[in-house]
Amino acid sequence: MTEPRPAGAVHVRAPGKINLSLAVGPKGEDGYHPLATVFQAVTLYEEVLAVPDEVIRVSVTGRHADRVPTDSRNLAHRAATLLAEATGIDAGVHLQITKGVPTAGGMGGGSADAAAALLACDLLWGTGLAREELGHLAAELGADVPFALTGQTAVGLGRGDALTPALARGRFHWVLAIIEDGLTTPEVFRAWDQLNSGARLAPRISDALMQALVAGDPRRLAGHLRNDLQIAAIELQPRLRDVFKAFDDTSALRALVSGSGPTVAALAPDHAAALAIAAAVERADVADEVLVVSGPAHGARLVESVRDSE
Ligand code: C5P
Repeated sequence: MTEPRPAGAVHVRAPGKINLSLAVGPKGEDGYHPLATVFQAVTLYEEVLAVPDEVIRVSVTGRHADRVPTDSRNLAHRAATLLAEATGIDAGVHLQITKGVPTAGGMGGGSADAAAALLACDLLWGTGLAREELGHLAAELGADVPFALTGQTAVGLGRGDALTPALARGRFHWVLAIIEDGLTTPEVFRAWDQLNSGARLAPRISDALMQALVAGDPRRLAGHLRNDLQIAAIELQPRLRDVFKAFDDTSALRALVSGSGPTVAALAPDHAAALAIAAAVERADVADEVLVVSGPAHGARLVESVRDSE
């Protein structure tokens, strides 16, 4: 980086995620569906530069930036506002977001922005909250925000926000097929409701999946990947059928919709295979973008802090 940084700027990076397993139960009275999910953070990041300002404002560049609101609908904007309210501080910030995670793709990009904004503003304003306190604020902002703070691999229960770290050995290599026609989380859950009106079972995580993670074995893990929202996502975005067909013709061990979609994540046997799979899916011309990433990745983390005195 050669560009000068404004005095007092704080640069934080937070990861996108995929859900290795997403089991959904029937909608509760709070309007949320009970979940049992396993998140894995991957090496695709949101960058947030927090610069002192008179007011709280947001600007966005990078992947799909034109489709991201910059007003108070933006989750990073809400994160800064919530932190200011919770700590009683009267401060502004200009949050400059560079998007790496697809927008409305089921990879938690907005949640990563919110997690990064919480950490960046906490550092910039010197509010000094403990990680646990930031986690409580994160849960108020959205079900996936606490995970973007912690990263790595974790089990999420409740709305997905009650996290327990999961033991995972080694690296897993993923090929992402991105479709720009995003899906919103509520519309996918609504479609799931229609398809599962008789559902009663409480969601749970399979022991075999947890064991495959501990073993660090992609072949074993592939057999236990699961996403209950997948059928609903395919119904809303039929292009996904062609994406799955394209992965079928490769050495991908298994492909699944990430979260509420429409991004499809395919597990590769190793890094070299991931590159070959990505090239084949590019040639099939079924997705708007194809990326190779790996997991687990770290949670929201300070990259650089430039203090006034420097
Ligand atoms: O919490 P978050 O803002 O990520 O959720 C967005 C919407 O997704 C919720 O308002 C709800 O409609 C749906 N949702 C759900 N069950 C969950 C998580 C989200 O129904 N566990």
